[in-house]
Amino acid sequence: MKKILITGAGGYIGSNLVPYLLKHKYRVLAIDRFFFGNYLKKNINLKIIKDDIRSLKKDYFKNVYCVIDLAAISNDPSGEIFKKETFDINYRARLRNAKISKHMNVKKYLLPSSCSNYGRIRNDQIADETFKLNPLTNYSKANSMAESSILKLNTKNFNPTVFRQGTLFGCSPRLRLDLAINGMTYGIFKNNKLPVMRDGNQRRPMLHMKDALRAMKFFIENDHQLGGEIFNVGSNENNYSINDLIAIFKKKIRKKFKLEWYGSPDKRSYFVSFDKISSIGFKAKYNAKNGIDDLLKYFKKNKTIQKKENITLEWYRELEKWNNIIQEVSKDSKILYDL
Ligand SMILES: NC(=O)c1ccc[n+]([C@@H]2O[C@H](COP(=O)([O-])OP(=O)(O)OC[C@H]3O[C@@H](n4cnc5c(N)ncnc54)[C@H](O)[C@@H]3O)[C@@H](O)[C@H]2O)c1
Repeated sequence: MKKILITGAGGYIGSNLVPYLLKHKYRVLAIDRFFFGNYLKKNINLKIIKDDIRSLKKDYFKNVYCVIDLAAISNDPSGEIFKKETFDINYRARLRNAKISKHMNVKKYLLPSSCSNYGRIRNDQIADETFKLNPLTNYSKANSMAESSILKLNTKNFNPTVFRQGTLFGCSPRLRLDLAINGMTYGIFKNNKLPVMRDGNQRRPMLHMKDALRAMKFFIENDHQLGGEIFNVGSNENNYSINDLIAIFKKKIRKKFKLEWYGSPDKRSYFVSFDKISSIGFKAKYNAKNGIDDLLKYFKKNKTIQKKENITLEWYRELEKWNNIIQEVSKDSKILYDL
């Protein structure tokens, strides 16, 4: 059984990826600070370590076949507020992890980057992996820096691969409602209002969670020359403008609903080509409609879904706020008890 080290294993993607790989007969070493809680169930082939990816021990990488380095400050708004941390975690720590992986004879290192590195492109263009990057935010700048430094480590025996994911949608025990389709579906479910980020013309490739998991397994198992390569992960059919998504919701949801516009016009806009990953045999299976169906079912089952944890930036702010309060009022690490 091959051992896979997953950082960020408690996150939106990680808490689905861990059970998925266990089911497919991998051993998993799951590492995370678990800022959003730990939803991983015990399993004989799973070891969980609570640690920070800025200072991982070399020992963790012993006998690991593949590292999937998911841990990150994971969206644009959080990256603008926590700038230093975003560069430290998303760029420096992941480069350090890739170097340790190489040193410890790990075979594959997968860097989960983002199509948001393309920033803003003209509507008559479509970005393939050779397209000039235009990272507009700290989050995508850190991703772009990690990509170029880590790919340089490629050798015959150590193969780093970058996968630039579209914006994900779909269910997870650590749900993210700050992702477009997830947030829109939740708005419809909760109060029949569709929250839409201005101005609606912005374009994005979307990626179903189940396809993201399939793609990572595909990278682990694929023996093509993937080392040193970049792949956009998604499918050409799942390139949507936000207005396209509104139209899908209008078709799907029979009753009338209101649009709730928010934010200032989004500068990020990009359609992406997925021909390269398709040429080596990966095809996405799911589209936005499938995701909306899955999410609506999930929301019906899990009625207490709205928590601060589900909005990434709100939750990091909340943790920082309480950390400051606790430091102010505690004595010998205690509040009221056992002084
Ligand atoms: N979700 C998307 O739409 C999407 C799209 C493109 C790329 N990505 C990338 O995929 C990866 C996973 O995204 P996600 O949606 O699961 O995000 P997430 O925020 O749900 O998960 C990130 C996890 O990393 C952990 N973490 C953060 N800093 C850490 C540190 N210093 N040490 C240890 N653990 C730490 C958090 O506790 C969290 O569990 C990220 O790298 C993200 O940039 C996600």
